[in-house]
Amino acid sequence: MKISYSNAPLPERGTAVFTVLEGSKLSPSAAQLDTSSKGKIRKAIKSSTFTGKLGEKLFLIAPHGTLFDKIVLIGLGKASNIDKKTFKELGGQTFHLLAKECDRVSIVLETFGGVKLKVESMAAEFGFGARMRSYSFTKYRTTLKKEDKNRLNLLTIYCKEASKARSSYATRDKVVDGVFFTRNLVSEPANILYPAEFARRAKNDLSKIGVKVSVFGEKEIRKLGMGALLGVAQGSVRAPRLVIMEWNGLGAKNKKTAKPLAFIGKGVCFDTGGISIKPSGGMEDMKWDMGGAGVVTGLMKALAGRKSKSHVIGAIGLVENMPDGNAQRPGDIVKSMSGQTIEVLNTDAEGRLVLCDVLHYVNKKYKPQFMVDLATLTGAIIIALGDQHAGLFSNNDKLADNLKRSGDAVDELLWRLPLSKKYNKLLDCEVADMKNISGGRGAGSITAAQFLERFVGDTPWAHLDIAGVTWSKSASSTIPKGGTGFGVQLLDYLVSQYYE
Ligand code: BES
Ligand code: MN
Ligand code: ZN
Repeated sequence: MKISYSNAPLPERGTAVFTVLEGSKLSPSAAQLDTSSKGKIRKAIKSSTFTGKLGEKLFLIAPHGTLFDKIVLIGLGKASNIDKKTFKELGGQTFHLLAKECDRVSIVLETFGGVKLKVESMAAEFGFGARMRSYSFTKYRTTLKKEDKNRLNLLTIYCKEASKARSSYATRDKVVDGVFFTRNLVSEPANILYPAEFARRAKNDLSKIGVKVSVFGEKEIRKLGMGALLGVAQGSVRAPRLVIMEWNGLGAKNKKTAKPLAFIGKGVCFDTGGISIKPSGGMEDMKWDMGGAGVVTGLMKALAGRKSKSHVIGAIGLVENMPDGNAQRPGDIVKSMSGQTIEVLNTDAEGRLVLCDVLHYVNKKYKPQFMVDLATLTGAIIIALGDQHAGLFSNNDKLADNLKRSGDAVDELLWRLPLSKKYNKLLDCEVADMKNISGGRGAGSITAAQFLERFVGDTPWAHLDIAGVTWSKSASSTIPKGGTGFGVQLLDYLVSQYYE
Protein backbone atom coordinates (compact mmCIF):
# COMPACT_ATOMS: atom_id res chain seq x y z
CA MET A 1 0.00 0.00 0.00
CA LYS A 2 1.18 3.48 -0.83
CA ILE A 3 0.93 6.31 1.68
CA SER A 4 0.90 9.83 0.23
CA TYR A 5 0.71 13.29 1.74
CA SER A 6 -1.00 16.38 0.40
CA ASN A 7 -1.38 20.06 1.35
CA ALA A 8 -4.32 20.46 -0.99
CA PRO A 9 -7.90 20.70 0.25
CA LEU A 10 -9.58 17.31 0.55
CA PRO A 11 -11.33 16.43 -2.72
CA GLU A 12 -15.02 15.75 -2.18
CA ARG A 13 -15.31 12.21 -3.56
CA GLY A 14 -14.74 8.57 -2.66
CA THR A 15 -14.15 7.49 0.93
CA ALA A 16 -12.90 10.04 3.44
CA VAL A 17 -12.03 9.77 7.11
CA PHE A 18 -12.41 12.59 9.65
CA THR A 19 -11.40 12.73 13.29
CA VAL A 20 -13.55 13.51 16.32
CA LEU A 21 -12.49 14.06 19.94
CA GLU A 22 -14.31 12.50 22.86
CA GLY A 23 -17.50 14.42 23.63
CA SER A 24 -18.32 14.59 19.90
CA LYS A 25 -15.87 17.46 19.31
CA LEU A 26 -15.55 17.64 15.53
CA SER A 27 -12.23 18.47 13.90
CA PRO A 28 -12.31 21.77 11.92
CA SER A 29 -12.72 19.95 8.61
CA ALA A 30 -15.49 17.73 9.98
CA ALA A 31 -17.24 20.82 11.38
CA GLN A 32 -16.95 22.51 8.01
CA LEU A 33 -18.44 19.48 6.29
CA ASP A 34 -21.23 19.47 8.84
CA THR A 35 -22.04 23.05 7.92
CA SER A 36 -21.86 22.53 4.17
CA SER A 37 -24.03 19.40 4.40
CA LYS A 38 -26.59 21.21 6.56
CA GLY A 39 -25.83 19.28 9.73
CA LYS A 40 -25.53 15.72 8.36
CA ILE A 41 -22.46 14.90 10.47
CA ARG A 42 -23.86 15.99 13.82
CA LYS A 43 -27.16 14.36 13.00
CA ALA A 44 -25.46 11.04 12.25
CA ILE A 45 -23.56 11.25 15.53
CA LYS A 46 -26.75 12.04 17.44
CA SER A 47 -28.51 9.06 15.89
CA SER A 48 -25.73 6.68 16.96
CA THR A 49 -23.76 5.68 20.04
CA PHE A 50 -20.60 7.28 18.66
CA THR A 51 -19.11 9.98 20.90
CA GLY A 52 -15.50 10.11 19.70
CA LYS A 53 -14.00 7.76 22.29
CA LEU A 54 -10.65 6.34 21.21
CA GLY A 55 -11.12 3.64 18.60
CA GLU A 56 -14.83 4.27 17.98
CA LYS A 57 -15.96 4.63 14.41
CA LEU A 58 -19.05 5.70 12.53
CA PHE A 59 -19.90 5.12 8.87
CA LEU A 60 -22.05 7.52 6.83
CA ILE A 61 -22.89 5.94 3.49
CA ALA A 62 -23.60 8.26 0.52
CA PRO A 63 -24.38 11.18 2.85
CA HIS A 64 -26.90 13.58 1.44
CA GLY A 65 -25.60 17.04 0.65
CA THR A 66 -22.06 15.84 -0.11
CA LEU A 67 -20.36 14.14 -3.05
CA PHE A 68 -18.65 11.51 -0.90
CA ASP A 69 -19.42 7.80 -1.31
CA LYS A 70 -18.65 7.21 2.30
CA ILE A 71 -17.59 9.24 5.29
CA VAL A 72 -15.93 7.58 8.26
CA LEU A 73 -15.60 9.30 11.60
CA ILE A 74 -12.93 7.94 13.93
CA GLY A 75 -12.68 8.71 17.62
CA LEU A 76 -9.45 10.12 19.01
CA GLY A 77 -10.45 9.96 22.66
CA LYS A 78 -9.32 12.69 25.08
CA ALA A 79 -7.00 15.37 23.70
CA SER A 80 -4.70 15.06 26.73
CA ASN A 81 -4.10 11.34 26.11
CA ILE A 82 -3.06 11.67 22.50
CA ASP A 83 0.51 10.79 21.56
CA LYS A 84 2.38 9.22 18.66
CA LYS A 85 1.24 5.74 19.67
CA THR A 86 -2.39 6.84 19.41
CA PHE A 87 -1.95 7.73 15.76
CA LYS A 88 0.10 4.64 14.96
CA GLU A 89 -2.71 2.47 16.36
CA LEU A 90 -5.44 4.49 14.65
CA GLY A 91 -3.59 4.13 11.36
CA GLY A 92 -3.56 0.36 11.76
CA GLN A 93 -7.20 0.19 12.84
CA THR A 94 -8.34 2.45 10.02
CA PHE A 95 -6.49 0.36 7.47
CA HIS A 96 -8.14 -2.78 8.78
CA LEU A 97 -11.56 -1.14 8.86
CA LEU A 98 -11.45 -0.14 5.21
CA ALA A 99 -9.00 -2.57 3.61
CA LYS A 100 -11.65 -4.74 1.99
CA GLU A 101 -14.10 -1.91 1.25
CA CYS A 102 -12.31 0.35 -1.20
CA ASP A 103 -9.11 0.88 -3.18
CA ARG A 104 -8.43 4.41 -2.03
CA VAL A 105 -9.01 6.32 1.16
CA SER A 106 -8.41 9.95 2.11
CA ILE A 107 -8.04 11.23 5.63
CA VAL A 108 -7.77 14.73 7.03
CA LEU A 109 -5.48 15.16 10.04
CA GLU A 110 -5.32 18.40 11.99
CA THR A 111 -4.54 19.74 15.45
CA PHE A 112 -7.60 21.02 17.32
CA GLY A 113 -9.32 21.10 20.67
CA GLY A 114 -6.15 21.00 22.78
CA VAL A 115 -4.31 18.23 20.87
CA LYS A 116 -0.60 18.96 21.38
CA LEU A 117 1.01 16.50 18.96
CA LYS A 118 2.40 18.15 15.84
CA VAL A 119 0.39 17.47 12.74
CA GLU A 120 3.41 16.10 10.86
CA SER A 121 4.02 13.54 13.64
CA MET A 122 0.35 12.55 13.60
CA ALA A 123 0.44 12.12 9.87
CA ALA A 124 3.72 10.15 9.80
CA GLU A 125 2.63 7.80 12.61
CA PHE A 126 -0.81 7.27 11.11
CA GLY A 127 0.79 6.26 7.81
CA PHE A 128 3.29 4.06 9.63
CA GLY A 129 0.58 2.20 11.55
CA ALA A 130 -1.57 1.77 8.47
CA ARG A 131 1.20 0.25 6.42
CA MET A 132 2.30 -1.95 9.32
CA ARG A 133 -1.18 -3.47 9.39
CA SER A 134 -1.32 -3.88 5.61
CA TYR A 135 1.10 -6.82 5.67
CA SER A 136 -0.11 -10.18 4.48
CA PHE A 137 1.64 -13.43 3.61
CA THR A 138 -0.45 -14.98 0.88
CA LYS A 139 2.16 -16.07 -1.66
CA TYR A 140 1.16 -19.73 -1.37
CA ARG A 141 -2.59 -19.12 -1.71
CA THR A 142 -3.43 -19.93 -5.32
CA THR A 143 -7.22 -19.73 -4.96
CA LEU A 144 -7.65 -16.71 -2.73
CA LYS A 145 -10.89 -14.93 -3.63
CA LYS A 146 -10.84 -11.27 -4.55
CA GLU A 147 -13.17 -10.34 -1.72
CA ASP A 148 -10.81 -11.95 0.77
CA LYS A 149 -7.87 -9.80 -0.27
CA ASN A 150 -7.00 -6.32 0.89
CA ARG A 151 -8.08 -3.87 -1.79
CA LEU A 152 -6.88 -0.66 -0.22
CA ASN A 153 -3.74 0.42 -2.06
CA LEU A 154 -3.59 4.19 -1.66
CA LEU A 155 -3.99 6.15 1.55
CA THR A 156 -3.75 9.91 1.07
CA ILE A 157 -3.26 11.98 4.18
CA TYR A 158 -4.37 15.61 3.82
CA CYS A 159 -2.67 17.87 6.32
CA LYS A 160 -0.83 21.12 6.87
CA GLU A 161 2.94 20.66 6.78
CA ALA A 162 2.52 17.86 4.24
CA SER A 163 6.13 18.08 3.12
CA LYS A 164 7.40 17.70 6.70
CA ALA A 165 5.02 14.78 7.18
CA ARG A 166 6.23 13.20 3.94
CA SER A 167 9.88 13.36 4.88
CA SER A 168 9.20 12.13 8.41
CA TYR A 169 7.18 9.23 6.97
CA ALA A 170 9.95 8.39 4.52
CA THR A 171 12.11 7.27 7.47
CA ARG A 172 9.25 5.33 9.06
CA ASP A 173 8.58 3.63 5.73
CA LYS A 174 12.09 2.14 5.82
CA VAL A 175 11.37 0.69 9.24
CA VAL A 176 8.24 -0.95 7.84
CA ASP A 177 10.38 -2.41 5.04
CA GLY A 178 12.58 -3.94 7.73
CA VAL A 179 9.60 -5.30 9.67
CA PHE A 180 8.11 -6.82 6.50
CA PHE A 181 11.42 -8.46 5.64
CA THR A 182 11.43 -10.03 9.11
CA ARG A 183 7.79 -11.12 8.84
CA ASN A 184 8.46 -12.71 5.45
CA LEU A 185 11.41 -14.69 6.79
CA VAL A 186 9.49 -15.81 9.86
CA SER A 187 6.44 -16.85 7.82
CA GLU A 188 8.27 -19.04 5.31
CA PRO A 189 8.04 -22.78 5.93
CA ALA A 190 11.23 -24.68 6.64
CA ASN A 191 11.22 -26.60 3.35
CA ILE A 192 11.66 -23.25 1.60
CA LEU A 193 13.71 -21.31 4.12
CA TYR A 194 16.68 -23.39 5.28
CA PRO A 195 20.06 -21.96 6.29
CA ALA A 196 21.51 -21.55 2.78
CA GLU A 197 18.32 -19.95 1.49
CA PHE A 198 18.06 -17.58 4.46
CA ALA A 199 21.67 -16.52 3.89
CA ARG A 200 21.02 -16.03 0.18
CA ARG A 201 18.03 -13.77 0.86
CA ALA A 202 19.95 -11.72 3.42
CA LYS A 203 22.81 -11.25 0.99
CA ASN A 204 20.62 -10.44 -2.03
CA ASP A 205 18.41 -7.97 -0.28
CA LEU A 206 20.91 -6.20 1.94
CA SER A 207 23.90 -5.90 -0.42
CA LYS A 208 21.71 -3.76 -2.66
CA ILE A 209 21.30 -1.13 0.03
CA GLY A 210 24.89 -0.87 1.14
CA VAL A 211 25.19 -3.57 3.81
CA LYS A 212 28.33 -5.69 3.58
CA VAL A 213 27.19 -9.29 3.89
CA SER A 214 29.59 -12.19 4.46
CA VAL A 215 28.32 -15.74 4.40
CA PHE A 216 30.37 -18.52 6.03
CA GLY A 217 29.73 -22.12 4.98
CA GLU A 218 30.25 -25.28 6.99
CA LYS A 219 33.97 -25.58 6.29
CA GLU A 220 34.65 -22.00 7.35
CA ILE A 221 32.54 -22.43 10.46
CA ARG A 222 34.57 -25.53 11.33
CA LYS A 223 37.78 -23.60 10.79
CA LEU A 224 36.57 -20.99 13.27
CA GLY A 225 36.12 -23.77 15.80
CA MET A 226 32.39 -23.37 16.38
CA GLY A 227 31.89 -26.86 17.79
CA ALA A 228 28.69 -26.00 19.68
CA LEU A 229 26.88 -24.61 16.63
CA LEU A 230 28.13 -27.48 14.47
CA GLY A 231 26.93 -30.08 16.97
CA VAL A 232 23.37 -28.80 16.49
CA ALA A 233 23.69 -28.68 12.71
CA GLN A 234 25.16 -32.17 12.27
CA GLY A 235 21.82 -33.98 12.40
CA SER A 236 20.48 -32.22 9.31
CA VAL A 237 21.19 -32.64 5.61
CA ARG A 238 20.91 -28.85 5.34
CA ALA A 239 24.33 -27.30 6.00
CA PRO A 240 24.63 -24.42 8.47
CA ARG A 241 25.56 -20.83 7.68
CA LEU A 242 27.00 -17.97 9.66
CA VAL A 243 26.01 -14.61 8.23
CA ILE A 244 27.74 -11.36 9.21
CA MET A 245 26.07 -8.14 8.11
CA GLU A 246 27.82 -4.83 8.54
CA TRP A 247 26.32 -1.37 8.16
CA ASN A 248 28.60 1.60 8.57
CA GLY A 249 26.77 4.89 8.18
CA LEU A 250 29.21 6.98 10.20
CA GLY A 251 30.87 10.05 8.77
CA ALA A 252 34.46 9.84 7.51
CA LYS A 253 35.86 11.06 10.85
CA ASN A 254 34.49 8.19 12.96
CA LYS A 255 34.12 5.55 10.32
CA LYS A 256 37.29 3.64 11.11
CA THR A 257 37.57 4.21 14.85
CA ALA A 258 34.13 3.90 16.44
CA LYS A 259 33.32 0.54 18.02
CA PRO A 260 30.26 -1.04 16.43
CA LEU A 261 26.97 -2.01 18.05
CA ALA A 262 26.26 -5.72 17.64
CA PHE A 263 23.00 -7.63 17.26
CA ILE A 264 23.04 -11.41 17.26
CA GLY A 265 20.17 -13.70 16.28
CA LYS A 266 19.21 -17.33 16.82
CA GLY A 267 18.46 -18.79 13.41
CA VAL A 268 17.15 -22.30 13.93
CA CYS A 269 15.28 -22.71 10.65
CA PHE A 270 13.46 -25.69 12.13
CA ASP A 271 13.67 -27.10 15.63
CA THR A 272 12.49 -30.71 15.93
CA GLY A 273 14.33 -30.93 19.24
CA GLY A 274 16.85 -33.30 17.67
CA ILE A 275 17.23 -36.68 19.42
CA SER A 276 15.49 -35.14 22.47
CA ILE A 277 12.61 -34.86 20.05
CA LYS A 278 9.60 -32.64 20.62
CA PRO A 279 6.02 -33.95 20.72
CA SER A 280 4.34 -33.69 17.30
CA GLY A 281 1.44 -31.43 18.39
CA GLY A 282 2.29 -27.85 17.47
CA MET A 283 5.74 -28.73 16.18
CA GLU A 284 5.00 -26.71 13.03
CA ASP A 285 5.54 -23.60 15.16
CA MET A 286 9.22 -24.42 15.14
CA LYS A 287 9.50 -23.04 11.61
CA TRP A 288 9.72 -19.65 13.31
CA ASP A 289 12.54 -20.67 15.60
CA MET A 290 14.71 -18.46 13.41
CA GLY A 291 12.79 -15.40 14.64
CA GLY A 292 15.80 -13.81 16.35
CA ALA A 293 17.83 -14.04 13.14
CA GLY A 294 14.82 -12.67 11.27
CA VAL A 295 14.70 -9.61 13.50
CA VAL A 296 18.42 -8.94 13.16
CA THR A 297 18.16 -9.19 9.37
CA GLY A 298 15.10 -6.92 9.25
CA LEU A 299 16.80 -4.45 11.56
CA MET A 300 19.80 -4.23 9.21
CA LYS A 301 17.39 -3.54 6.37
CA ALA A 302 15.70 -0.75 8.35
CA LEU A 303 18.98 0.86 9.46
CA ALA A 304 20.55 0.78 6.01
CA GLY A 305 17.28 1.82 4.38
CA ARG A 306 17.05 4.97 6.45
CA LYS A 307 20.82 5.52 6.26
CA SER A 308 21.29 5.42 10.01
CA LYS A 309 24.38 7.27 11.24
CA SER A 310 25.67 4.26 13.11
CA HIS A 311 28.07 1.37 12.80
CA VAL A 312 26.22 -1.89 13.35
CA ILE A 313 27.12 -5.57 13.06
CA GLY A 314 24.31 -8.09 12.61
CA ALA A 315 25.34 -11.72 13.10
CA ILE A 316 23.11 -14.75 12.72
CA GLY A 317 23.78 -18.44 13.25
CA LEU A 318 21.64 -20.51 10.86
CA VAL A 319 21.07 -24.21 11.43
CA GLU A 320 18.37 -26.85 11.36
CA ASN A 321 17.93 -29.03 14.48
CA MET A 322 17.10 -32.49 13.12
CA PRO A 323 17.41 -36.04 14.45
CA ASP A 324 19.14 -38.01 11.67
CA GLY A 325 21.68 -40.83 12.02
CA ASN A 326 24.49 -38.34 12.44
CA ALA A 327 22.65 -36.20 15.00
CA GLN A 328 24.30 -35.36 18.30
CA ARG A 329 23.21 -37.47 21.26
CA PRO A 330 22.31 -36.50 24.81
CA GLY A 331 25.56 -36.77 26.73
CA ASP A 332 27.79 -35.66 23.86
CA ILE A 333 30.46 -33.16 24.82
CA VAL A 334 31.23 -30.36 22.36
CA LYS A 335 33.90 -27.69 22.36
CA SER A 336 32.73 -24.13 21.73
CA MET A 337 34.80 -21.57 19.87
CA SER A 338 35.62 -19.93 23.21
CA GLY A 339 37.38 -23.14 24.27
CA GLN A 340 34.76 -23.91 26.93
CA THR A 341 33.35 -27.44 26.73
CA ILE A 342 29.65 -28.25 27.01
CA GLU A 343 27.86 -31.46 27.89
CA VAL A 344 24.72 -31.57 25.75
CA LEU A 345 22.19 -33.17 28.09
CA ASN A 346 19.21 -32.11 26.00
CA THR A 347 19.53 -31.63 22.26
CA ASP A 348 16.38 -29.48 22.34
CA ALA A 349 18.23 -26.76 24.26
CA GLU A 350 19.96 -25.96 20.96
CA GLY A 351 19.48 -22.21 20.62
CA ARG A 352 22.03 -21.44 23.31
CA LEU A 353 24.52 -23.77 21.59
CA VAL A 354 24.20 -21.80 18.38
CA LEU A 355 24.26 -18.39 20.05
CA CYS A 356 27.24 -19.06 22.32
CA ASP A 357 29.56 -19.48 19.35
CA VAL A 358 28.20 -16.47 17.47
CA LEU A 359 28.38 -14.28 20.59
CA HIS A 360 31.97 -15.30 21.19
CA TYR A 361 32.95 -14.72 17.58
CA VAL A 362 31.40 -11.25 17.40
CA ASN A 363 32.89 -10.22 20.74
CA LYS A 364 36.38 -11.36 19.77
CA LYS A 365 36.38 -10.10 16.22
CA TYR A 366 34.58 -6.73 16.55
CA LYS A 367 35.03 -5.71 20.21
CA PRO A 368 31.58 -4.09 20.08
CA GLN A 369 30.24 -1.36 22.41
CA PHE A 370 27.55 -3.82 23.34
CA MET A 371 25.92 -7.03 22.15
CA VAL A 372 22.18 -7.63 22.12
CA ASP A 373 21.02 -11.11 21.17
CA LEU A 374 17.49 -12.10 20.24
CA ALA A 375 16.19 -15.64 20.39
CA THR A 376 13.05 -17.71 20.58
CA LEU A 377 14.97 -19.42 23.32
CA THR A 378 12.62 -20.96 25.87
CA GLY A 379 9.07 -22.19 26.26
CA ALA A 380 9.44 -21.07 29.89
CA ILE A 381 9.36 -17.39 28.91
CA ILE A 382 5.88 -17.97 27.43
CA ILE A 383 4.77 -19.46 30.74
CA ALA A 384 6.19 -16.45 32.60
CA LEU A 385 5.21 -13.53 30.35
CA GLY A 386 2.79 -14.81 27.71
CA ASP A 387 2.67 -12.73 24.55
CA GLN A 388 2.72 -9.24 26.09
CA HIS A 389 6.36 -8.83 27.09
CA ALA A 390 9.60 -10.31 25.85
CA GLY A 391 12.11 -11.35 28.51
CA LEU A 392 15.10 -9.06 29.04
CA PHE A 393 18.31 -10.23 30.68
CA SER A 394 21.44 -8.14 30.97
CA ASN A 395 24.80 -7.74 32.68
CA ASN A 396 24.55 -3.96 32.26
CA ASP A 397 21.89 -1.71 33.82
CA LYS A 398 22.38 1.17 31.40
CA LEU A 399 21.89 -1.03 28.35
CA ALA A 400 18.92 -2.74 29.99
CA ASP A 401 17.31 0.63 30.77
CA ASN A 402 17.84 1.92 27.25
CA LEU A 403 16.25 -1.24 25.85
CA LYS A 404 13.32 -1.08 28.27
CA ARG A 405 12.67 2.58 27.44
CA SER A 406 12.86 1.88 23.71
CA GLY A 407 10.33 -0.92 24.11
CA ASP A 408 7.95 1.39 25.98
CA ALA A 409 8.28 4.04 23.28
CA VAL A 410 7.36 1.73 20.40
CA ASP A 411 5.02 -0.59 22.28
CA GLU A 412 7.25 -3.64 22.09
CA LEU A 413 7.40 -4.29 25.80
CA LEU A 414 10.24 -5.88 27.73
CA TRP A 415 10.31 -7.25 31.24
CA ARG A 416 13.64 -7.68 32.97
CA LEU A 417 14.43 -10.92 34.79
CA PRO A 418 17.37 -11.58 37.08
CA LEU A 419 20.77 -13.14 36.59
CA SER A 420 22.91 -14.26 39.49
CA LYS A 421 25.80 -16.48 40.56
CA LYS A 422 23.40 -18.95 42.13
CA TYR A 423 21.43 -19.43 38.93
CA ASN A 424 24.69 -19.62 37.03
CA LYS A 425 25.90 -22.44 39.26
CA LEU A 426 23.00 -24.61 38.12
CA LEU A 427 24.89 -25.14 34.87
CA ASP A 428 28.07 -26.44 36.48
CA CYS A 429 28.96 -29.91 35.30
CA GLU A 430 31.20 -32.79 36.42
CA VAL A 431 32.44 -33.92 33.03
CA ALA A 432 32.66 -30.65 31.07
CA ASP A 433 32.88 -26.91 31.79
CA MET A 434 29.09 -26.66 31.76
CA LYS A 435 25.95 -28.51 30.79
CA ASN A 436 23.38 -27.06 28.43
CA ILE A 437 20.39 -27.44 30.79
CA SER A 438 20.10 -27.16 34.55
CA GLY A 439 18.21 -30.41 34.89
CA GLY A 440 15.77 -28.89 37.39
CA ARG A 441 12.26 -27.67 36.60
CA GLY A 442 12.63 -24.05 37.68
CA ALA A 443 13.91 -20.82 36.11
CA GLY A 444 14.26 -22.23 32.58
CA SER A 445 14.55 -18.85 30.87
CA ILE A 446 17.05 -17.57 33.43
CA THR A 447 19.36 -20.57 33.20
CA ALA A 448 19.29 -20.24 29.40
CA ALA A 449 20.40 -16.62 29.78
CA GLN A 450 23.07 -17.65 32.33
CA PHE A 451 24.42 -20.05 29.75
CA LEU A 452 24.78 -17.24 27.21
CA GLU A 453 26.40 -14.93 29.75
CA ARG A 454 29.31 -17.35 30.05
CA PHE A 455 30.29 -16.39 26.50
CA VAL A 456 30.18 -12.57 26.55
CA GLY A 457 33.12 -11.69 28.82
CA ASP A 458 32.93 -8.13 30.18
CA THR A 459 31.16 -6.68 27.17
CA PRO A 460 27.82 -5.01 27.96
CA TRP A 461 25.29 -7.56 26.80
CA ALA A 462 21.55 -8.08 26.77
CA HIS A 463 19.49 -11.08 25.79
CA LEU A 464 15.90 -10.80 24.59
CA ASP A 465 13.90 -14.02 24.83
CA ILE A 466 11.26 -13.44 22.17
CA ALA A 467 9.63 -16.91 22.13
CA GLY A 468 6.28 -15.46 23.27
CA VAL A 469 6.11 -12.44 20.98
CA THR A 470 7.44 -13.62 17.61
CA TRP A 471 4.21 -15.15 16.34
CA SER A 472 0.70 -13.86 17.04
CA LYS A 473 -2.39 -16.03 16.98
CA SER A 474 -4.67 -12.97 16.88
CA ALA A 475 -4.29 -9.61 15.18
CA SER A 476 -3.72 -6.29 16.96
CA SER A 477 -3.96 -2.74 15.56
CA THR A 478 -0.69 -2.76 13.67
CA ILE A 479 0.10 -6.49 13.58
CA PRO A 480 -1.85 -9.02 11.53
CA LYS A 481 -1.90 -12.66 12.66
CA GLY A 482 1.38 -14.51 12.14
CA GLY A 483 4.94 -13.22 12.22
CA THR A 484 5.04 -9.98 14.22
CA GLY A 485 8.49 -8.60 13.51
CA PHE A 486 8.70 -7.77 17.25
CA GLY A 487 12.08 -6.22 17.96
CA VAL A 488 12.75 -4.37 14.72
CA GLN A 489 11.02 -1.16 15.83
CA LEU A 490 12.49 -1.46 19.31
CA LEU A 491 16.09 -1.84 18.18
CA ASP A 492 15.75 0.74 15.44
CA TYR A 493 14.51 3.15 18.11
CA LEU A 494 17.36 2.17 20.46
CA VAL A 495 19.94 2.93 17.78
CA SER A 496 18.30 6.20 16.69
CA GLN A 497 17.68 7.49 20.20
CA TYR A 498 20.88 6.54 22.02
CA TYR A 499 23.57 5.71 19.49
CA GLU A 500 23.33 8.03 16.47
N1 BES B 1 12.80 -23.18 20.28
C1 BES B 1 12.56 -23.68 21.57
C2 BES B 1 11.80 -22.71 22.48
C3 BES B 1 10.41 -22.33 22.03
C4 BES B 1 9.31 -23.01 22.50
C5 BES B 1 10.22 -21.28 21.17
C6 BES B 1 8.04 -22.65 22.09
C7 BES B 1 8.95 -20.92 20.77
C8 BES B 1 7.85 -21.60 21.23
C9 BES B 1 13.88 -24.05 22.25
O1 BES B 1 14.87 -24.48 21.40
C10 BES B 1 13.59 -25.17 23.18
O2 BES B 1 13.25 -26.22 22.72
N2 BES B 1 13.73 -24.92 24.47
C11 BES B 1 13.49 -25.92 25.46
C12 BES B 1 14.60 -25.86 26.48
C13 BES B 1 14.59 -27.00 27.43
C14 BES B 1 14.95 -28.28 26.71
C15 BES B 1 15.60 -26.72 28.52
C16 BES B 1 12.14 -25.59 26.10
O3 BES B 1 11.83 -24.41 26.29
O4 BES B 1 11.40 -26.54 26.39
MN1 MN C 1 14.76 -26.55 21.03
ZN1 ZN D 1 14.78 -23.79 19.48
